[in-house]
Order: sequence, then structure tokens, then C-alpha cells
Amino acid sequence: MTDQDFRRRLDEAAAATQATLDALLAPSPLEGEIARPARLLEAMRYVALGGGKRLRPFLALESARLFGVCGESAARAAAAIEMIHCYSLAHDDLPAMDDDDLRRGRPTAHKAFDEATAILAGDGLLTYAFDVLADPATHADPLIRARLVLALARAAGLGGMVGGQALDLEAEKAAAPLTQEETLRLQAMKTGALLRVCVDFGAILGGASAEVAAALGRYGDALGAAFQIADDILDAEGDEAALGKRAGKDAERNKATLIGLLGLEKARARRDALVETAVAALADAKLGEATATLAEAARFVALRSS
Ligand code: IPE
Ligand code: IPE
Ligand code: MG
Ligand code: MG
Ligand code: MG
Repeated sequence: MTDQDFRRRLDEAAAATQATLDALLAPSPLEGEIARPARLLEAMRYVALGGGKRLRPFLALESARLFGVCGESAARAAAAIEMIHCYSLAHDDLPAMDDDDLRRGRPTAHKAFDEATAILAGDGLLTYAFDVLADPATHADPLIRARLVLALARAAGLGGMVGGQALDLEAEKAAAPLTQEETLRLQAMKTGALLRVCVDFGAILGGASAEVAAALGRYGDALGAAFQIADDILDAEGDEAALGKRAGKDAERNKATLIGLLGLEKARARRDALVETAVAALADAKLGEATATLAEAARFVALRSS
């Protein structure tokens, strides 16, 4: 797979995700909803439709495709994960958290609207993600829907992303720096869990065997860890215009990162080793050439400039 082919697939996934999210965030209420307040909907659309790499939906779509699953089920499941991700960014940027004013090249949600609206837009997207998964439009089989809901809840909540965000904020104020082990766990939670669940979604939708699902899971874990190291490296040396968000903030805020613990060079080496681990895990899945796109995704995660 050439880099150009990979970029095309990523662009296609981004466009498909944009269209799915746009349709889900339409003004007309769904059955059982009373009304969709215009300003809140506008803020949810601002947060969810404002660009981004759409890497998580891409991973979910590509994992589902390994098993021949595409169409509405994969599109809606992928969009649900992106809703969680977008909500997490809106909340991550709030003054009470990372206090950022730039996201995806535009003012953060609380700057474009106000704090209460940014919080509620996040709440709305978080809740809607589970609505989307539980809806029969996502899958005819209620057991599959329940498994998607459970997997996403576990990845996004207390023992996953939200828990990791809490540890990230605690670490800023800790008397002593976190150990390497603590830092790795924090990052696996705040970022890794949501990236891993993307491939878990593919395995659930595709009815993968336990062995194949486990191999894909190992890929997701390694990719997730590489992703956060790359994010930290970009914060340390990236350029704001390319990133669409402020750089240099992690050191300023005393964030727990591997760069802080190991320095840039060792952090880079660890990132690259994780990419190799991810690619090796894909080989363990024994799905042949079909996994070439996911292998390229692992390389992209490490070498991206935004
Ligand atoms: C940024 O995620 C936040 C982290 C989890 C580190 P992305 O780099 O995937 O952000 P977008 O979606 O492309 O804006
Ligand atoms: C954010 O990590 C992770 C989540 C939003 C869950 P960061 O705080 O490092 O993300 P950026 O750098 O602001 O995108
Ligand atoms: Mg943060
Ligand atoms: Mg942040
Ligand atoms: Mg960051």
C-alpha cells in the first residue's frame, strides 16, 4: 500500500464520517426526543463537524472491512466513537482542564460559545454516541448492539478515557513526578483505550474469533500507546499552524509525558518500537494482505505532523 493509497482511504473515511455525523445532528428530533435546542445543536455540530483526522472512525471502518462489514452498521458505529472523541476534546480544552483556546484550527468550543454550552455540547455528544449504538439502525442483532455499547462504555469511562483524564490532571499537581509505569497506564487510559476500542468494534461487527480479536486488540493497544507519544512529541516540537492547536503546553503545565521522563530521543525510539509491535500483532491475526491498511495506519500515527 502506497502512502497515497493510504491517504485516499483516510480521506474517504473522513468524508463518510462527516456525512454520517451531519445526518445524525440534523435539527429534527428523533422519536422519543422532545425538541433539539438550536444553540446546543449548533455547538454540538461545531464540536463534531469541525475537522480532525477522523483516525478513530477510520480504524473502526478498516477493522470492520477486514470481515467484509461495511455500510450503515460500520458507519454508525464509527461515528459513535468519533462523537465520544469530539466530546472529550471539547471538555479537555475547558479552562478547568487544559485551558486551550485553539482546536482543529479554530477557537475551542467554550471560546466560540461559552463554557456551559461547551460542557453541554460534550454531554450531548457523549449521550448521543450510546443512542446511536443502541438504535436498531446500527445492527439488527440486539446482542451485537449491546456488545458495542459495553465495549465503548468500558473504553470511554471511569476505567478508560475519563479515568485517564483524571490521572492526567492529578499528575500536573503531584508532589513527585509519575513513574514510567504510572505514565504508561495514564496514557493507555486517556488515549489508548478509545483507539483500541475502534478495532474491537471491527471484531465485534465482524464476528471475529477470539484469537483474531486478541491479535487486533494487541495492535490497538500498541497503536494507542504510539499515538500518545507522537501527540506529546508534536506538542514539544510541532508547529501550531500544522497542528491546529497550541504547542508547548505540556511542559508548561507539568504534564506527565514520556518525553519528560526519557527525553525526546528515547521517546521517539519507544514510539517506533510500538509501531513494530502493532504491525507484528496484525501479522498474528493471519488475515493476509487485508491488514496492509491498518499496518500503514500504525506508521502514519507515528510519523504524522498534525
Ligand atoms: C488529539 O487527538 C487528542 C488526543 C487523544 C491526544 P487527535 O490527534 O486524533 O485529534 P483530531 O481528531 O485529529 O483533531
Ligand atoms: C487529550 O490528551 C486526551 C483526551 C482528550 C481524552 P491531550 O490533552 O494531550 O490532547 P491535546 O494535545 O489537547 O489534543
Ligand atoms: Mg489533556
Ligand atoms: Mg489537551
Ligand atoms: Mg497533547
